[in-house]
Amino acid sequence: MTVPTQPQPPLVDALNAEMASAWNGEEGEDWAARADRFDAASAAFDPALLDAAAVGAADRVLDVGCGAGVSTRAAARVAVDGHATGIDLSAPLLAEARRRSAAAGLTNTTFVRGDAQVHPFESASFDVAVSRFGGMFFGDPVAAFTNLARALRPGGRLAVLSWQPLARNEWLLVLRRTLAAGRLLPEPPGDAPGPFGLSDPDRVRGVLAAAGFASVHVTEVPGVVRLGADAEDAFDFVAGLGMTRGLLGGLDDDVRRAALDELRAALVEHATPDGVLLGAAAWLTTAYRG
Ligand SMILES: C[S@@+](CC[C@H](N)C(=O)[O-])C[C@H]1O[C@@H](n2cnc3c(N)ncnc32)[C@H](O)[C@@H]1O
Repeated sequence: MTVPTQPQPPLVDALNAEMASAWNGEEGEDWAARADRFDAASAAFDPALLDAAAVGAADRVLDVGCGAGVSTRAAARVAVDGHATGIDLSAPLLAEARRRSAAAGLTNTTFVRGDAQVHPFESASFDVAVSRFGGMFFGDPVAAFTNLARALRPGGRLAVLSWQPLARNEWLLVLRRTLAAGRLLPEPPGDAPGPFGLSDPDRVRGVLAAAGFASVHVTEVPGVVRLGADAEDAFDFVAGLGMTRGLLGGLDDDVRRAALDELRAALVEHATPDGVLLGAAAWLTTAYRG
């Protein structure tokens, strides 16, 4: 008698286990449910990533931390004779990515659940690797980028968007200032997994060199984050963010209400005819597999 095989859980490095549980929990569910909002928020940075990736018609593209797959689909639309593969830890986001790619009629995308740090990619099986704010969360960035270098063919290109430090990102400063409610919030570290995990260009250059990449360039991409069409729309978006929940946690009701009023007022101040726009700054890191 043959015993039916159970689907194996994806291989996740112990250092990324907490991240995997967050992106498979409330955080991932929220991103999947509001993927359009998240895509629109940082859309200002998309052209820089696509230009740098310089995807060719026959290229095999890997999108690292693809989320709901907006950049995977953008690559697939160019790689008409090639293929785009998105890898992500998050089951809910991958389900959304698959649904969106099918709805768009794309037949050259694949979405894989896994930890890009340790996923057993076929060696030299990609021409280009991109990441749209998905490469900042690795517990061991050198191991992760070494694994990605191995997945690229020699000479293959890497193009990665990541956030610059907090001080350069007005959208995060405003959130933290209004929701701090008088508390002194700790500075987020620039060398730990999270939004600022690739925010220090010297560290990024060191990580990529150690991982076997050559011609590493880190360039500034100024932009804006669009939080909504108007202040109420933006408030609705921001109030549901995991970061907001975290900052409000532990505050008593009155203080919480006052903090949210302050946030709403700040969003009103940033409303423009093009939506609620706040300053933002990313790094675009490009490199080649040596
Ligand atoms: C900030 S979101 C960006 C998602 C998407 N690239 C976008 O621009 O909308 C970060 C994504 O990276 C994924 N991620 C984090 N660590 C990962 C890892 N070790 N391997 C694969 N994906 C990872 C998360 O699950 C999440 O979907």
